[in-house]
Amino acid sequence: MNVDIGNALASVSAPGVSRGSLEALDEQVAAAHERIETGRANREHGYEALNLPDRTDPETIRSAVEPIADADAIITVGIGGSALGAATITDALAGESETEAIYLDNVDPEWVSSRLERLPLERTAINVVSRSGTTAETLANFLVVRDAFESAGVDWTDRTIVTTGDSGPLRDLSDRHDLPSLKVPDGVPGRFSALSSVGLVAPAVCGHDLEALLEGAAAEADSLSGSLFECPAYAYGATTYALDARGAGINAMVPYSESLETSAEWFAQLWAESLGKDDLGQTPVRALGVTDQHSQLQLYRAGPRDKFVTFVTTRQRRDRSIPETDVEDLAYLGDATLGELLEAEFEATEASLAAAGRPNVRIELESVDEYELGGFLYGMEAACVLAGELYGVNTFEQPAVEWAKKATRGLLGGGAFEEAEAVAEKTELR
Ligand code: PA5
Repeated sequence: MNVDIGNALASVSAPGVSRGSLEALDEQVAAAHERIETGRANREHGYEALNLPDRTDPETIRSAVEPIADADAIITVGIGGSALGAATITDALAGESETEAIYLDNVDPEWVSSRLERLPLERTAINVVSRSGTTAETLANFLVVRDAFESAGVDWTDRTIVTTGDSGPLRDLSDRHDLPSLKVPDGVPGRFSALSSVGLVAPAVCGHDLEALLEGAAAEADSLSGSLFECPAYAYGATTYALDARGAGINAMVPYSESLETSAEWFAQLWAESLGKDDLGQTPVRALGVTDQHSQLQLYRAGPRDKFVTFVTTRQRRDRSIPETDVEDLAYLGDATLGELLEAEFEATEASLAAAGRPNVRIELESVDEYELGGFLYGMEAACVLAGELYGVNTFEQPAVEWAKKATRGLLGGGAFEEAEAVAEKTELR
């Protein structure tokens, strides 16, 4: 992963972050790096996620998925950090696999039903993932999926793998039915678990190269250093922090590859849930190049100066030439390929934002493959941990998310939670 912050730097004509202020920030980066390395060495909660490239054993994951490895489709039942890492990988590499990877996170009944109805259940594997083992959406969807399998006369116990903690309702259920299971590693919060069993079961069933994913991540881990000028991940974390400090707190991630669209969703969760605390944080926005050039770009180039753009690009892609036509005005297209058109659109957009004095950062992946994806996932996680240190927030907790989870359970009669009482009181006031 390469990170280019050139268009985030201030120049005579463009606002942004000055080189001098980044140099001053580098002292804080050095201190934050030291804190991160201590956390990693002591395997502290959260920091342990940055050790995953060394701790995750691909062989254990592959053996666990053995009974379902011949599936035509794998349906992952999980939400947030228990689904988005896997979805980023399998969506990015969908063209390389004959196994379809589907995700059930939302509990919209219409959507869940239509997904289940179109699947060949006797050829589908179920991958249930919940760190806590108590998340209402995941457990409810799993019960619905189980029921659909039973109604179709398919033994779901033959086709299910569970990834969860040491205890909890999902662990109990898994033990009761003697299901193959994996453990969520200790010290790794959901949104930082893409490179563990949480994120790698679906890619394993799809036949993706787990070793290469972890090698790419390990290379990024090796590049962590005490200076943002020497470390791509920290360059990203520190620059976005500095942009926010200057009033550009909206971070629009725009991948220029359809296959990377889900990566922006994963990134948005990582950034929002980790940094959005104590009235601080950046607001991540998801967009897609070139599609959103025809919608959101207007705002990014000419709207309030409260935002910056993170481009994610890849140079190598399967290409397709644009057929020639005898319509004179379209002749220029016949000399090009779709890849060249996409590239030109990206270059034009990046340059047009820079020309308008709108800061942007470019993250470059050599290609969309396991190695580069592993590096991207790890690099963004390290960037996020660094930004958390700079903001001085607890990156690894998510009290607002937990609040809503408890309120939901309480409202459904799943326990006495004061959060549910607060919701009930508010509803009565209406
Ligand atoms: O990052 C997080 O902590 C959350 O997004 C969780 O991953 C999400 O809420 C799902 O939780 P669980 O894995 O306990 O079902």
